[in-house]
Amino acid sequence: MTEGTRATILNVVGARPNFMKIAPLMRAFRKRPEFQPVLVHTGQHYDERMSRLFFEQLSIPRPDVNLEVGSASHAVQTAEIMKRFEPVVEQYRPDVVLVVGDVNSTVACALVAVKLGVKVAHVEAGLRSFDRTMPEEINRLLTDAISDFLFVTEPSGIRNLKHEGIPEEKIFFVGNVMIDTLLANLEQARSSPILETLGLEARAYAALTLHRPGNVDDRDVFLRVFGAVRKIAEALPVVFPVHPRTRKNMVRFGMLKEEGDDELGGVRLVEPLGYLDFLKLMAEARLVLTDSGGIQEETTILKVPCLTLRETTERPVTVEVGCNEVVGTDPARILSAFRRVMDAEAFTCGTPEKWDGHAAERIADVLVSEFALVHRRSG
Ligand code: UD1
Repeated sequence: MTEGTRATILNVVGARPNFMKIAPLMRAFRKRPEFQPVLVHTGQHYDERMSRLFFEQLSIPRPDVNLEVGSASHAVQTAEIMKRFEPVVEQYRPDVVLVVGDVNSTVACALVAVKLGVKVAHVEAGLRSFDRTMPEEINRLLTDAISDFLFVTEPSGIRNLKHEGIPEEKIFFVGNVMIDTLLANLEQARSSPILETLGLEARAYAALTLHRPGNVDDRDVFLRVFGAVRKIAEALPVVFPVHPRTRKNMVRFGMLKEEGDDELGGVRLVEPLGYLDFLKLMAEARLVLTDSGGIQEETTILKVPCLTLRETTERPVTVEVGCNEVVGTDPARILSAFRRVMDAEAFTCGTPEKWDGHAAERIADVLVSEFALVHRRSG
């Protein structure tokens, strides 16, 4: 960057959880005269319910570039993103490529940038499940290893990165951009008609999501977890917005027909919801059952009990403040945690440090001062 010019930031999104993270960043960058933000959508998620609806509801600007990679095996998807992203970096010659989260688009674009000598910023750095069978864990480890600016959401992230030998001056504890989006949209979400549409009463249902390959690609694991969910549905209505990966597998396992909403063993199946409807569904639930990472964080701010249907979490602060319990996939354990939540008289939990709606502004501040620093040094 030379004096008088703006820093070009190539911001990358690919899959559903990226959209909530990029929305406040694009807003923060567009407000600062120091930046020229460019938005690149890899097209990893591409359909109306997994992508377009989120751009509309979160007022994310139309992507400047869409790589339209679509779905494929991990190797093919990652390679396609890299092939198509390289000429974009060459065309824009950005000062920094910013990636968020832990999806294939994150690692693919970070790798392209670093090989072209462009600095990489990773938002949501340092999270670790310590389970290398999760594709997201591999994406997190690799992206952090080659990033120049590592923006961290919670104290465990700082510890993990230091332990991996990342120099302290690259690590910035800024809070959680996903929570920026939640707080900015909560009021609007409150007026979503989703409870009426689904015939649900506030605090009288559980919301369920499942999409991790470890849970839904293996028939035995999936049936085991779903068996526990059916038991829960005998006591409390369960509503389950079904991720495309999960629906495909349910069809493959012979549990479902191809199309449409459905009901299975007392569990209400619906299509994936838009951001505002899903936020309302979580906010009014008696409890949430999930294997998602982001939902563990969102329920923490909404003060709704979360049972995480995995053996590990990369977001331990949600457990430490008392909102989240990691219950694994053993039905007996899931059911006893469910009963404990139902029997508890009250539910209180804390709020993680800096999850206050201002993380994106902190990231913009850091980048402004870092670029000024580079400029002073080279000048
Ligand atoms: C990806 C991320 C995961 C994230 C999740 C959120 C990786 C490795 N995984 O997993 O971390 O939590 O997104 O949703 O990047 N599909 C559609 N429509 C779409 C997108 C996908 O039908 O718009 C179908 C695809 O055909 C594919 C399946 O869903 O078979 C899975 O998509 P994919 O991008 O491979 O990974 P996710 O499981 O969604």
